[in-house]
Amino acid sequence: MIRKCLFPAAGYGTRFLPATKSMPKEMLPIVNKPLIQYGVEEAMAAGMHGIAIVTGRGKRSIEDHFDISYELEHQISGTSKEAFLEDTRRVIDTCTFSYTRQVEMKGLGHAILTGETLIGPEPFGVVLADDLCDGEGGDPVLAQMARIYAKYRCSIVAIEEVPAEEVHKYGVIEASPLEEDIFMVSDMVEKPEAEDAPSNMAIIGRYILTPDIFDVLRRTPAGKNGELQITDALKTQAKEGMVLAYKFKGQRYDCGSVDGFVAATNRFYERYKQGA
Ligand code: UTP
Repeated sequence: MIRKCLFPAAGYGTRFLPATKSMPKEMLPIVNKPLIQYGVEEAMAAGMHGIAIVTGRGKRSIEDHFDISYELEHQISGTSKEAFLEDTRRVIDTCTFSYTRQVEMKGLGHAILTGETLIGPEPFGVVLADDLCDGEGGDPVLAQMARIYAKYRCSIVAIEEVPAEEVHKYGVIEASPLEEDIFMVSDMVEKPEAEDAPSNMAIIGRYILTPDIFDVLRRTPAGKNGELQITDALKTQAKEGMVLAYKFKGQRYDCGSVDGFVAATNRFYERYKQGA
């Protein structure tokens, strides 16, 4: 039902300097696979095969990654090493990739608006690849959200309860329960101080958005830090229509931070050793 997924990947990744000085944050590997490939595989598993990536300067390696490398393939052809490229080949064979560039980094909302040209007038998923999500029981978080979309047909944000001292890193919602793990959003605040936060329910890097979000973004003024904030546009959508928040089943790792990156590496290395 949802065919496309947008990957805003133009940010500077300053929390991970110097590794991200000339390498995209999205290409940082968790064990032997770059972050963005985990995200693309999650979208693919949710049936979203149209992969739209918003890149920026210095991000060309993302495009090269989702392409055939003839020299390399020729070199390893017929050897056991071919197996290392199986997942990547499956992604390339199943999905289509389109790219556009965000010329000025004016915030996540602006990056999503930049992606309009690749998405068009249809609902779409959004994955922030530095949030690595490990869906419970192998059920990808985006697939969980797509099922909720099929029932409610409105924008949905994935949320996680975080400690009060961490709410300042996130968009935080005010909401009332609708059904188990699903909430109706009434308000949102971008990166509030703990005392101003309406709850401890923080938005993480998975969204399903209805295409009217683009018009809302166009009429949304710059917000916190002078950036166009997706939370401000979602707040308008919530007030004029309906936005749901979904407490996803699974584990999220903030791989844009060193602590989250190391935790994810340890977890996925365990799995790698078990051959899964
Ligand atoms: P972050 O807040 O993680 O910013 O952006 P960042 O620049 O990537 O990383 P830090 O905080 O400096 O370490 C959230 C997501 O939005 C994208 C980023 O690529 C990331 O996936 N983004 C952000 C854009 O694509 N464009 C922007 O102008 C801002």
